[in-house]
Amino acid sequence: MSTIQFISIKYSNEINILDLELIVGFIINKSREFIITHPEFVLNKAQIVKIHALVAKRKKGAPLAYLIGKKEFFGLDFKVDKNVLIPRPETEMMVEESLKLLKTKNYQLKTKIIDVGTGSGNIIISVVKNLVNQSSVIGHYKFFATDISQKALIFAKANAKNHKVFNKIKFLQGNLMEPLLKSKSYKLKANKLIIVANLPYVSSKNYKKYYSGIKFEPQSALVSKNYGLFHYEKLFQQIKTLSLTAHCSLITVLIEFSPEQKNKIKLLAKIYFPTSKIEFKKDLAKKWRMGKITF
Ligand SMILES: C[S@@+](CC[C@H](N)C(=O)[O-])C[C@H]1O[C@@H](n2cnc3c(N)ncnc32)[C@H](O)[C@@H]1O
Repeated sequence: MSTIQFISIKYSNEINILDLELIVGFIINKSREFIITHPEFVLNKAQIVKIHALVAKRKKGAPLAYLIGKKEFFGLDFKVDKNVLIPRPETEMMVEESLKLLKTKNYQLKTKIIDVGTGSGNIIISVVKNLVNQSSVIGHYKFFATDISQKALIFAKANAKNHKVFNKIKFLQGNLMEPLLKSKSYKLKANKLIIVANLPYVSSKNYKKYYSGIKFEPQSALVSKNYGLFHYEKLFQQIKTLSLTAHCSLITVLIEFSPEQKNKIKLLAKIYFPTSKIEFKKDLAKKWRMGKITF
C-alpha cells in the first residue's frame, strides 16, 4: 500500500523533502501540515503516477512554483505558470518600502501608485492587501498595474480576484507607463505618484553565463538590452515626460536591479532627474538591490 510515508522514503534522496511535501500536498489537495502529520494516508494509483511525473520534472530543474502552480510572496499565495515570472523573496523589499512611503505625511492624500511590469501582480496586490483593512486611508489612493504581456495580466487579474482586491486596481496592457500617459482619464495631473518597477534587468551576457537555472521562466520578463538597463532607461524617459507635462507635485520611483548595475542606475537617474534625491538599499543577502529616486 502506498502511503505518504512510503512516498517520502521512496523519493527522499531524489528531491528536497520540502518540495516533495508540497508536490504531494498539491496532488491530494491537502496542506503541507497534513502531509507531515498523516504519514499513514493512503494514495491511489492515479495520484502516485502524478507525483512520480512531477518529481521527475523537478529533478530536471523545473521550478517547484510552476509544478504546483503557485508561489508564496509577502505571506500571500500567487498563481503562476510558465508565462509569468515567479515572484522572488528579494522583491518583498519593494512592498515594504511602498507601504513605508504611504505612511509618510507626503503621501497621505491624492496619491497614485503604479506598478510597472506587474507580472503575477505580486507587488501591487500585496500593497493593496496590506492597506485594505485600513478603511480610513485606502480611499485616498488609486492603484494601477501595467504589463506588456496579456498572459501575465490574466494571472495578475486572477490573483487580484483571489485576494479580493480586483476592484481596487486598474490593470492596463501596454509598454511601461504608456497606457497611463496616453489617456487623460487616469488624471495624473498635479498628483503625487509612487512608481514601483521590477522590470527585466538581466543583461544578455549574464543570462547566458549565470542564469541556466531560470531557463524555465519567460525570457521577456528577465532580459533587457544595454547591459540590462534598456527598460529602466525607457521608463525614466516616460517619467521625465510625465513630470513635465502633468506637473506632478511629488514622484518617488522604486526600482529593483542587479547589484552590479548600481552606479549605472545612479548615472541614469542623474541624467533624467538632475534634482532628484537618489538612495539605494541592500537585500537580505547584503547586495545592492533597490533604488529610490525622489523628486
Ligand atoms: C522581472 S518581471 C517582474 C514581475 C513582477 N513585477 C515581480 O516582481 O515578480 C518583469 C515584468 O515586466 C513585464 N514587461 C517586460 N517588458 C515590458 C514593457 N515594455 N512594458 C511593460 N511591462 C513589461 C514582463 O512581462 C514581466 O511581467
